[in-house]
Amino acid sequence: MEITGATRLVGVFGWPVSHTLSPKMHNAAFAALGLDWAYLPLPVPPERVGDAVRGLPALGFAGANVTVPHKQAVLPFMDELTPDARAIAAVNTIVVRGDGSLLGHSTDGGGFLADLARLLPPPRSDGTLRPQPWRSGETLHALVLGAGGAARAIAYALVRSGAAVLVLNRTLARAQELCRGLAEALPDAQRGALEPGGWERIPHAAGWADLIVNCTSLGLHEGDAMPWDPAAPLLSGQIVYDTIYNRPTELLAYARACGATAVAGLGMLVQQGALAFEMWTGLPAPVDVMAAALRT
Ligand SMILES: NC(=O)c1ccc[n+]([C@@H]2O[C@H](COP(=O)([O-])OP(=O)(O)OC[C@H]3O[C@@H](n4cnc5c(N)ncnc54)[C@H](OP(=O)(O)O)[C@@H]3O)[C@@H](O)[C@H]2O)c1
Repeated sequence: MEITGATRLVGVFGWPVSHTLSPKMHNAAFAALGLDWAYLPLPVPPERVGDAVRGLPALGFAGANVTVPHKQAVLPFMDELTPDARAIAAVNTIVVRGDGSLLGHSTDGGGFLADLARLLPPPRSDGTLRPQPWRSGETLHALVLGAGGAARAIAYALVRSGAAVLVLNRTLARAQELCRGLAEALPDAQRGALEPGGWERIPHAAGWADLIVNCTSLGLHEGDAMPWDPAAPLLSGQIVYDTIYNRPTELLAYARACGATAVAGLGMLVQQGALAFEMWTGLPAPVDVMAAALRT
């Protein structure tokens, strides 16, 4: 890749950012489409986030991704937020518009839904999700484990798509706060569509769920406990989606052993990246190229 004065730049703000897979994925996409664009890892310490974000237009960047720990910290520096970013109070994608103003969006929920789509029947004409045919009833029941940033984005995307969502977290107060915040952002959601609970409810909720999504950080490291109570068997046909993508997790091994459909978070990573790519370039993202780049 040759970088010249004409190369359009994007990148990812994080701290640390050395582990990020996004440059590989986006640079492969730019190369595949013959675009003179480059995607850079941008290590930004927490106390310099404002300077970094405000510098994007001056440096001629087309935009940026934002990762841990900056997704909330960049909010005050945005000129406008999309409804998704406002609802979950987090930004993972910044677009520098023609007039130099900054639009903040989150593609995490949309990326999750895009990947989930391959596992579910086609949605209804109003976009609401359907449960799998083996389940009776009209509503998809989803169990979200965790109440951090990923859980917030995914719970929001699911409730907005008509699912009933139970958010279980080790710290109950955080699950309650998440549900309160999302209920305010989604005043038209069905009553009872979103409920918080503590970790101890896992065995009772296990059979209720069509879809179980691990949004905790348990599983990131070898030797981590499983974010599940092994006394609660998973059902054949249930979808167990682990947002963790850096290693095969114990949760997914357990899900497979129970006959459930086990899905790792790499597809979400690709799809959230594809949505950001499309916002910056205005072109359809080469999703297969992006996924293949992560496998090499
Ligand atoms: N695939 C993708 O594209 C994608 C995108 C974003 C994030 N992710 C993944 O999502 C995960 C969470 O990220 P995040 O940004 O939401 O993190 P976060 O905001 O720090 O939230 C971490 C969550 O994990 C829970 N947790 C941590 N240690 C625990 C333990 N020992 N036992 C039970 N619960 C525990 C926390 O519970 P408490 O509230 O009780 O502390 C909290 O709910 C990460 O693993 C990340 O890799 C994937």
